[in-house]
Amino acid sequence: MKIFIDTADLDEIKEAASWGILDGVTTNPSLIKKAVEKMKAKGKEISMEGYIRQICKAVNGPVSLEVKGRSSEEMIKEAKILYEKFNEVNNNVVIKIPVNTAFSLEEPQFEGIKAIKELESNGIPTNATLVMTPEQALLAAKAGASYVSPFLGRVDDFIRKNLGIKHGKMDYWDYEAIELIEQEERKRSIEKGYEGAAGINYGDNGIYSGVELVYDIIETYEAYGYETKIIAASIRNARQVREVAMLGVDIATIPFAVIKEMIGHYKTMEGMKKFSEDVVEEYEKIFKS
Ligand code: G3P
Repeated sequence: MKIFIDTADLDEIKEAASWGILDGVTTNPSLIKKAVEKMKAKGKEISMEGYIRQICKAVNGPVSLEVKGRSSEEMIKEAKILYEKFNEVNNNVVIKIPVNTAFSLEEPQFEGIKAIKELESNGIPTNATLVMTPEQALLAAKAGASYVSPFLGRVDDFIRKNLGIKHGKMDYWDYEAIELIEQEERKRSIEKGYEGAAGINYGDNGIYSGVELVYDIIETYEAYGYETKIIAASIRNARQVREVAMLGVDIATIPFAVIKEMIGHYKTMEGMKKFSEDVVEEYEKIFKS
């Protein structure tokens, strides 16, 4: 599984790259905002173009940069600007296009898909972002997206909100427990008749967790041989990384804090301490010769 870092913070990108495990970077306007605010808080002036160039240089793998427009024409224009300005730095720019840019159902729904189709036809690689359903992922693949980014943490947030579950942003999502609750409720409702059972839906339209969303996209793509790479995104904790890795997802884009969480375990530290204490003089001598 490839590991991308989900940040626009250059210090974090450089540090993760120095660990030798980094395969790419994903940014979005919110992550850029965070990075700019951090720089300003340190009293540093920021040239956005120079900063993005440094991001592209820091990693030898895809760097996703997102457009800001909402019509396909605007997004295509912006994508070309981003690609022309930054791809020459390290030949690694991918353009992030929201799969659907509408704010409501009254607005056009296929602007993202149209932009993906046009850009890919012109040799500009795209990453379809804000994907919340397997159907959106299917449409993105049909339009030829190079990457698709299901936002698993946000799907979990949505389901937990519907269930009235209070949780911290980075909390693990116990989807098996939720499925059990749902099954129990369904049993009870079936006893009352089919009508009752039909109304039970604790998930998000048949999806019970963000990890399940990723699984469904993998299955769909495998069924038809789509080559679009799946980037598990909006990851909140190391256990989610484990779960998507076990599904065989192509890529996980992971916040810096979660990459750090992945390496830690109490017993590893305890074992390390003991090994260090147990180094006898005879063994020590080997390293001195
Ligand atoms: O990769 C998408 C990511 O940046 C969104 O993450 O935690 O804001 O849902 P989050």
